Amino acid sequence: MSVAAQDPVVVVEDLAVRYGLREVLTGVTLSVAPGEVHVVVGGSGCGKSTLLKAIVGLVQPTRGEVSLLGVCQRTADEPEWQQVLRRTGVLFQGGALINSLSLADNVALPIRECAPELPEAVVAEMVAMKLAMVGLSHAVHLNPPQLSGGMKKRAALARAMALDPTVLFCDEPSAGLDPVTAADLDRLLLDLRDRFGMAVVVVTHELASIEQIADRITMLVAGKVIVSGAKRQVMEAKVAEVRAFFDRENTPRDRGDPSVLAALCGKERA
Ligand SMILES: Nc1ncnc2c1ncn2[C@@H]1O[C@H](COP(=O)(O)OP(=O)(O)OP(=O)(O)O)[C@@H](O)[C@H]1O
Ligand SMILES: [Mg+2]
Repeated sequence: MSVAAQDPVVVVEDLAVRYGLREVLTGVTLSVAPGEVHVVVGGSGCGKSTLLKAIVGLVQPTRGEVSLLGVCQRTADEPEWQQVLRRTGVLFQGGALINSLSLADNVALPIRECAPELPEAVVAEMVAMKLAMVGLSHAVHLNPPQLSGGMKKRAALARAMALDPTVLFCDEPSAGLDPVTAADLDRLLLDLRDRFGMAVVVVTHELASIEQIADRITMLVAGKVIVSGAKRQVMEAKVAEVRAFFDRENTPRDRGDPSVLAALCGKERA
């Protein structure tokens, strides 16, 4: 596995994904450069989570290709793909923490899985470092149900960072948080990116988050990429769906074009 410093860490080409008969991603093409924060936006149900799952191999594409860290998912053998996944962190929508385990054990999971021979003292030290990084040193023995929403997100981030990934995927990291906590989480993500130099692919609807963290943006509408590029270029694109998304504070639902709003949510396919 060799990937030059300037090569994209994620390349998606003409990707299609079906659930049953329904195609939820069609012809998706995008690339993510090392160290960039690439934000994926789009209405609910347009396929953002499916795209992340397809990139990390949790969902099989029906067409097209995904390369992660220079390795083509379709042609890689299992050990090679597992090696790629070890350099990849995922913060799932909803966190996916295991309620019956303490924070320490949640964060230790990927470490123990990847390096079962590591002495417990070393694992404990790594876990302590990751929890300190997200400001949760005091919560190491708590279980997820004992945490606030913001703490859960930070714990999930610590787990996603457990193996010092080269690329981190975050699905709606700030959803459901109050604006101050969400802004704190955004700052933490940027701080981690700056300190560790990883690329971050973030799915979010939050306009404030997009403004704060994005280097580049890809927008999906009903499973297709409608625009992808530098933040300003995308945010200022004169495309109806892009305007409906970014100007929505000024576009009350009852005054928005119903067909555009429906398309944003992939409703014409429902
Ligand atoms: N496992 C599945 N089986 C069948 N359909 C699915 C499955 N997962 C997702 N879908 C459907 O695929 C479409 C895209 O779902 P996805 O979760 O990717 O959307 P999303 O853009 O992440 O939405 P949200 O912003 O609400 O999280 C939706 O219509 C959803 O119902
Ligand atoms: Mg989703």
